[in-house]
Amino acid sequence: MRIEVYLDDAVAPFQTITPPETFHLDTNALSDGHHELRLVAVDSDGVTSERRMPFTVQNGPSIAVHGLVDNDTVAGEVAVLANAYGSKIGDAFEPRRIETPAPIPTWAWVLFLGIFAWGAGYVALELEQRDALPLVAEDASTDAVAASDTATADWAELGAQVYGNTCSSCHQPSGAGLAGVFPPLTGNAAVLDADPTDHINAIVHGLSGKLIDGVAYPGPMPPFGALLSDEEIAAVVNHERTQWGNDAPLVTAADVVGLRN
Ligand code: HEC
Repeated sequence: MRIEVYLDDAVAPFQTITPPETFHLDTNALSDGHHELRLVAVDSDGVTSERRMPFTVQNGPSIAVHGLVDNDTVAGEVAVLANAYGSKIGDAFEPRRIETPAPIPTWAWVLFLGIFAWGAGYVALELEQRDALPLVAEDASTDAVAASDTATADWAELGAQVYGNTCSSCHQPSGAGLAGVFPPLTGNAAVLDADPTDHINAIVHGLSGKLIDGVAYPGPMPPFGALLSDEEIAAVVNHERTQWGNDAPLVTAADVVGLRN
């Protein structure tokens, strides 16, 4: 048994070995590029078999190109970055990756998107759970208030909320209003009046043309009777009656009902 080793299209083997045997292929003698090793095994009866092994020789510097890939379809002007490296066998570093400014590889994007999607899903789940919680807490607190029959805590939070959402844009969070445009609610006569009729009426039915503390306001105060419930109006009235140094008797939702008509 013997193996004849041919290189490329050579007619004569460049080596004949008795298997198993190591032989040396000196690529320095070959040009850079594609080559083929052809191994022909001849057994004692003269029967042969053949194996072809294509390989690529690259003894020169390696070339990296960005901006164009093999078999690309291009149009117009294309910017192509070319780079070459003279690394030798046995070099411990990898100059190709170190020196070539390469775009972020696809797998990194996929990994990033995966982690991002997971994070977004996690946040969505977490928010959903948080939304579900206050419902339970609210029920519990309403029950507790109804049970202990103390209405105080009930309107304080609601009042601040209604004021912040509906009134503070004009009357300002400080209750100081805007000079000549929106009246201050601090020290306002209707707000401090023990009889809450004017206070509630202004909110339920709106107000225009009233001289407040000697000042005429050009714009009207819009009516909120249709937008706010009796509880919300009572709450915001109480909020205004207890904020910013104001100290006036509190009202209930029943007081508002009486003034709606
Ligand atoms: C679009 C601006 C605006 C918003 C919003 C607004 N107000 Fe007024 N408010 C006014 C103006 C203007 C006046 C004065 C009207 C006048 O005298 O003609 C006024 C007057 C008042 C007065 C004084 C009534 C009086 O007789 O002196 C009270 C109390 C009051 N607003 C409460 C509220 C409350 C409570 C809210 C929220 C539910 C609210 N306002 C929302 C503009 C606004």
